[in-house]
Amino acid sequence: MPDPTFNRTLVTAALPYANGPIHIGHLAGAYLPADLYVRYLRSTGADVVFVCGSDEHGVPITLRAEKEGVSPKVIIDRYHTQIASAFRDFGMSFDIYSRTSSPTHRETAQEFFRTLYAKGVFVQKPSMQFYDEQIGMSLPDRYVEGTCPVCGNEQARGDQCERCGTYLEPTELINPRSKVSGAVPTLRETVHYYLPLGRFQPELEAWQAGKTDWKDNVLNYCRGWFKEGLQDRAITRDLNWGVPVPPEIPGSDGKVLYVWFDAPIGYLSATKEWAASTGEPEAWRRYWQQPDSQLVHFIGKDNIVFHAVVFPAMLMAEGSFILPDNVPANEFLNLEGEKLSTSRNWAIWLHEYLAEFPADPLRYTLAATLPETKDTDFSWREVQSRTADLADILGNFVKRAASFTERYFDNTVPERGDLSDLDRDLVAAIEAAPGAVAAHFEKFKLRDAVAEAINLARIGNRYFDASEPWRTRKTDPARCATTLNLSLNVCRSLAILLEPVLPHTMATVWTDVLRLPGTPTAAGWASAGTLGLAAGHLLGPCPVLFAKLDDAVVEAQIAKLKATAAPVSTTAKPKAAMSEMPAPAPAQPTAPVGKPEITIDDFGKVDLRVAEVLSAEPVAKSDKLLKLRVSLGDGQPERQIVAGLAKHIAPADLVGKRVVIVANLKPAKLRGELSEGMVLAAEGPDGTLVPLALPDLPAGSEVR
Ligand code: 2FM
Ligand code: ZN
Repeated sequence: MPDPTFNRTLVTAALPYANGPIHIGHLAGAYLPADLYVRYLRSTGADVVFVCGSDEHGVPITLRAEKEGVSPKVIIDRYHTQIASAFRDFGMSFDIYSRTSSPTHRETAQEFFRTLYAKGVFVQKPSMQFYDEQIGMSLPDRYVEGTCPVCGNEQARGDQCERCGTYLEPTELINPRSKVSGAVPTLRETVHYYLPLGRFQPELEAWQAGKTDWKDNVLNYCRGWFKEGLQDRAITRDLNWGVPVPPEIPGSDGKVLYVWFDAPIGYLSATKEWAASTGEPEAWRRYWQQPDSQLVHFIGKDNIVFHAVVFPAMLMAEGSFILPDNVPANEFLNLEGEKLSTSRNWAIWLHEYLAEFPADPLRYTLAATLPETKDTDFSWREVQSRTADLADILGNFVKRAASFTERYFDNTVPERGDLSDLDRDLVAAIEAAPGAVAAHFEKFKLRDAVAEAINLARIGNRYFDASEPWRTRKTDPARCATTLNLSLNVCRSLAILLEPVLPHTMATVWTDVLRLPGTPTAAGWASAGTLGLAAGHLLGPCPVLFAKLDDAVVEAQIAKLKATAAPVSTTAKPKAAMSEMPAPAPAQPTAPVGKPEITIDDFGKVDLRVAEVLSAEPVAKSDKLLKLRVSLGDGQPERQIVAGLAKHIAPADLVGKRVVIVANLKPAKLRGELSEGMVLAAEGPDGTLVPLALPDLPAGSEVR
């Protein structure tokens, strides 16, 4: 059960950059662990607030905007909305999902800066900074790319080399070039405010020495930084996108706060906004300013230095806030044996996943493979086998207990009679479960917590088998009734213990199957250790809780992943970092890959459109062809397309998809059926065809 030293907890999950969608690596690094922990805490009745939001400043945003030729505002609005809705559908239970472009954040970050400035914390000093003469702009951080002086990676970023992880200053790069124009930058003098981290090192080290419960990866990482000796860090930038340095500060002209200065303050701003939304605007102070509150930051490993060293130093300097109590950082998640890479599109994007599959099996698969102590691998086969486990262990148990009760006990919880040894063992397992699962949660061992909880379903299945209610129904009806009473009570306990990982399914079990009032969370964690389901209680129908994934579905997803990923670059091996900027796949080789070269005018003749598939059915006497009716949007006549996809995708799986078609292909008849267009599909390595789908775009959109 939660640490009694603390009366309330503020949990934060790293603010994702609003420059691209969320992928499974992000989920495994910070978001799912945070949500599991918070849901567990809430169930114990703890006073907990969970904040997150979009990180909308800094070079990751402006670079993306420049790449697309739009304003940064267009980028942040697009991705903030997309990320917030994907998180919601995944079941992230934030109390607030805010954004750092909010007025509250601007005021809070500026106030923080003012306080440190007034306390004389900052050092102001000149330095040489890269400048792009061609376009007339300063080039901080990732605006410069070049060769890493440590490992030779030719695509190292100005702030960090993604191959070897070294944090860099842009001027340390060999052969630097501007990310915007490609020009070789010149050096110009600039003056910035610096946070003199070295001054805080003794205090930081003493503080971390008391953190014996922190994860080894976090402590070791910080020890490395301390050993090197902490350096001054510039916390202002010459950019026109960000929180402006307060105007009354000398030398503030044209300067904004460094994104890593303002972003963690975003946790504070989000808490203020949450407090205002509850009608108690000062409530944030309880979570940030009272020593009986604990602050827990969930992050991916690439964010460790900022949360375990830089932000604590900022908080120490400011003086009126508590310091983080824990920073449970996860390692990285690989995908199908390779490093996740947004630039190669070697990733599973959350919004795309949720367009096709339910959230809970993904939550469970990720929870079972969280990279808590080392990098782990995620694969479609893993999703398939974990989903099958859910169906066979948990779904099967609930279904057996519910169906038996429906059939032989009028769907009503039967009486519990005298207990046999078998019954007593089960009751003991129920009573022990909440404490055993909680012990793992308290140590941030979330994989173990989820495994321990699902184990109760295994115990339930074994109990059901050993009790043989189908036999005792005839030989000893009272015994049979007791078996079902206890089995249904296990279902109730499971709904509470598995709510953190399977919130959607456990809500169904609680409300629809067990017909219990309120929620598993409101019933409370400790109540999972009791026999809370009374005899005489009427149950509801039990649906199929988990649908297994067919081999064909899994193979199609693997093929799609491979077909849409760019090849691994031989010079740079990108890592899946929280801070990595998603970008379209890199340029393809210059020589034509298969067909003869064409001109842009040749290509311009092809009218590619997004078309929504309204219906799909096999073409008679053909094992290859499907007949599709598609819509090209309002005002356009529907049309029929015959596609050679029958061996690759089930007709039902095509309906509702927004596929890309060649809309101006000369109509033709195939097997006697008129075809007015062609569906584009990519061929996987095993020959599987995967139709290109753009689920987010309306039918009729032009593809260029
Ligand atoms: O790495 C990232 O994606 C950063 N946007 C994380 C920021 S966490 C916090 F400090 F806001
Ligand atoms: Zn390097």
